[in-house]
Amino acid sequence: MKKKTTIVMSAMIVGASIFAACSKLLPSAIDPQNGLSSPVDLSNAQNVLFAHGNDVFFANRTAANGLGPYFVAISCGSCHASDNRGHPFTMLTRFGQSDTTGNKFLNKGGPQLQNNNLPGYLPQQMPPGATSSRFIAPITAGSGFLEAVPDSAILAMAASNANNADGVRGHPNYNSIPSYITPFANAIPRGDGKYICRFGRKASTYNLVQQVASAYNHDMGITSSYMPFNPYNYLDQTLPALPSSPEVSDDDFNAVVFYVQCLQTPIQRNANDPTVQHGNQVFNQIGCETCHKQALTTGYSPIDALSYQTFSPFTDLLVHDMGAGLDDGYTEGNALTTEWRTAPLWGLGLAPGVQGGTYYLMHDGRARSIEQAIQMHGGEAATSAGRFNNLSNEDKSALLTFLKSL
Ligand code: HEC
Ligand code: HEC
Repeated sequence: MKKKTTIVMSAMIVGASIFAACSKLLPSAIDPQNGLSSPVDLSNAQNVLFAHGNDVFFANRTAANGLGPYFVAISCGSCHASDNRGHPFTMLTRFGQSDTTGNKFLNKGGPQLQNNNLPGYLPQQMPPGATSSRFIAPITAGSGFLEAVPDSAILAMAASNANNADGVRGHPNYNSIPSYITPFANAIPRGDGKYICRFGRKASTYNLVQQVASAYNHDMGITSSYMPFNPYNYLDQTLPALPSSPEVSDDDFNAVVFYVQCLQTPIQRNANDPTVQHGNQVFNQIGCETCHKQALTTGYSPIDALSYQTFSPFTDLLVHDMGAGLDDGYTEGNALTTEWRTAPLWGLGLAPGVQGGTYYLMHDGRARSIEQAIQMHGGEAATSAGRFNNLSNEDKSALLTFLKSL
C-alpha cells in the first residue's frame, strides 16, 4: 500500500509542476478508490518499473533532451493528465486519408500535424486538399486490459451483431502493422496480412508498443529505437541531424509501455445505489450495451494481474458507422470516415475532475455533456439514441446517474 501511495504522490508532484500554469485542470486529489493512475497488483520489482514509467510519462521534454523540432505537446502526461480523458488544449490533428487506400499526404508531413515548433523552425500548415480530423486524448487507465482481450473475443462481438434489429453492426479495424511489432500469440490476422487493431479513436493502432512509439514520434518529435526519425514540415524540410542514440532510451520506452499496461481500471462509485442499478438496466434495455459492452474478459497475459480477468470498459473495440454528424472525411485502416471505435465509458463521471469541471466528450471533445454526446449518436446508434430521447424523466435521470458512477 505504501508503495502505491508513493507512486501516486510522485505522479501528482510531477503533474503539478507541468500544470502549474493551468492548475484548474488538476484533479483536486487522486483518490486511490477511483483507480486512476494507480497500478494493478504487481510484484515489488514490477512496482519499481511502474514507478519509473510513471516518472517518464509525466517528465517534461525540452529541446535539450529531444523535444521537436515539431511537436504537439511536451509529455505524455500533458495530454493524459491523471490518465483520464484529455482537454481541448492538447487536441491533435490528423490528415491526408479519405478512403481505405492509404494516406496520400505522407510526403506532405502526414498523418499528423504538429502544431508547435522549436524557435527557428517554420510552423507547419495543413497541405491544400487534405481532409482532417481532430482527436482529443482518450482515457489511458485500463489500457492493458483492453490490450489483453483476444482477437477471438472481438470477432465474436462483431458476429453477434449480424442480425441486430436496431441496425447495429460494427467491425474490427483491420490494418497493416509496422515491422517492429510482434503480433500477439493468439492473433487472428486476415488473409491479406492485416491485423485486428484496437487503440485510438478509430482503433487503427495494434498494441501499446505501437501506441507509445507513435506518441513519441508524432506527438513529441522524440525518436525511439522503433521510429528513429522526426516528423518534418513539408514547407521547410530541413531537420537537425539525428542524434546517434534514440531520444527516448529503450529502458525508458519499455517502462512507459509497462506503465500504461499496468494502469488499474477506473473503479465504479455507488455501484449498490438503487438508482445506479436502475440506470444500468435502462442502459441495457435501450441498446447502449450492444456497443458499450459491460463485461469483457482478457486472455493470457504475462502480467498476472491482467491474465483472464473480467472487467467493465463499456466498449466492444469495434468501429461503428455513427452517421453523417460524426463524418470528418478522414479514415484510418479500414475504418471509414463515419466510423469510430466505441468509446470506453469507464471513468466518465471522473472526467470533469480533470477537464476543468466540465465535459469534453466524443473523439474531438465536441460534446459538452453526457446528454449532448448521446444526441450526437447517429448511424448504427440512432435507434438506441432515439430511445434515450423517449425515456421518462425518471429513467433518463437514473441512466445519467449510472453513467456518472462509471
Ligand atoms: C498531444 C497529446 C498527446 C500526447 C503528448 C500523448 N498522447 Fe496518447 N493519445 C492522444 C490521443 C489524441 C490519442 C488517440 C489517438 C488516436 O486516435 O489514434 C491517444 C491515445 C493513447 C493511448 C490509447 C488509448 C486508447 O484506448 O485508445 C495510450 C495508451 C496513450 N495514448 C499513451 C500515451 C503515452 C504513453 C504517451 C507518451 C509517450 C502519449 N500517449 C502521449 C494524445 C496524446
Ligand atoms: C452503434 C454503437 C453504439 C451504441 C448503440 C451507443 N454508442 Fe455510445 N458511442 C459509440 C461510439 C462509436 C462512440 C465514440 C464516438 C466518437 O468518438 O466520436 C460513443 C461515445 C459515447 C459517449 C462519449 C464517451 C466519451 O468518453 O467521449 C457516451 C457518453 C456514450 N457513447 C453513451 C451512450 C449511451 C448512453 C448509449 C445508449 C443510449 C450509447 N452510447 C449507444 C457507439 C455506440
